Amino acid sequence: MARVFHATAGSSRTVRKRGGIVAGYLAPHPPHLVYAENPPQNEPRSTGGWEVLRWGYEELRRRLAVHKPDVLVVHAPHWITMVGHHVNCVPNPRGISVEPIFPHLFRYHYDFATDVDLAEAIVAEAADAGLVTSAMRDPGVRVDYATIGALHLANPAWDIPVVSLSANNNPYFYSDAALDEMETLGAATARAIERTGRRAVLLASNSLSHLHWDREPDLPEDMGVERPFDHHQYAGDMELLQVVREGPTERLRAAVPKHIAATQAETKAGSLTWLLAAMGWPAIAGDVLAYGTVIATGNAVVEWVP
Ligand SMILES: [Fe+2]
Repeated sequence: MARVFHATAGSSRTVRKRGGIVAGYLAPHPPHLVYAENPPQNEPRSTGGWEVLRWGYEELRRRLAVHKPDVLVVHAPHWITMVGHHVNCVPNPRGISVEPIFPHLFRYHYDFATDVDLAEAIVAEAADAGLVTSAMRDPGVRVDYATIGALHLANPAWDIPVVSLSANNNPYFYSDAALDEMETLGAATARAIERTGRRAVLLASNSLSHLHWDREPDLPEDMGVERPFDHHQYAGDMELLQVVREGPTERLRAAVPKHIAATQAETKAGSLTWLLAAMGWPAIAGDVLAYGTVIATGNAVVEWVP
């Protein structure tokens, strides 16, 4: 006699993974997106703008709520550390984060909790792997706008603890990306997450093509002038996102450096490579939730669920 199994309608066939990395997101940080949202933490006021990208972030938030992570781990290109990879180990960072080029758009009051145990574990694992690593313990260090921007847009309630990693790979000053170390840092991050039993979501706070205007319209959110820098930059972003959408992520090992060379992409800072390495370059496609330009730079919100 055949056995019949009953499943509750709508229940998932997959067993929820308790610990480990449950999802990774490309989560770009243009300050304009936070400005456009008018959150109470940000002093400037706007009339909106960049809606399609912000709708992508709304979808990210819906998915994040389903993933129910214990911690958000973010790697961001504007906490630039010239010597080594730093991890923020301050238990409760508080202060005002200001975008130095756009202080009229981003003066953000932050107050969040760090998962110090995981932060310390990442420091230890990265040092054991041979990386120059430092635990940042000075509460007076201002948290950069790329970290705050990605974290706010992913989780404006700030009700999930955070671990924040610096960029030892400067996005602006070097001609070639030194992405190899990001492989090591990603693997160390994954080991620390496993060791501490955390259920983690990773955020790579990177834009894509990164040429931008040097003049601002009178109304910063004037979408009548928002467009790609040129067709070459746009086409470069689309070529990369096609690889993202087709998968597997292994193809991005070659596609990311090619895209950096073609478009001055901010992924040169290594956040995306760190994220993919931490997930072990899974044999899956990414889900592009949105693409749009911000002062001509290309930005995509992408989810990978390993
Ligand atoms: Fe940036």
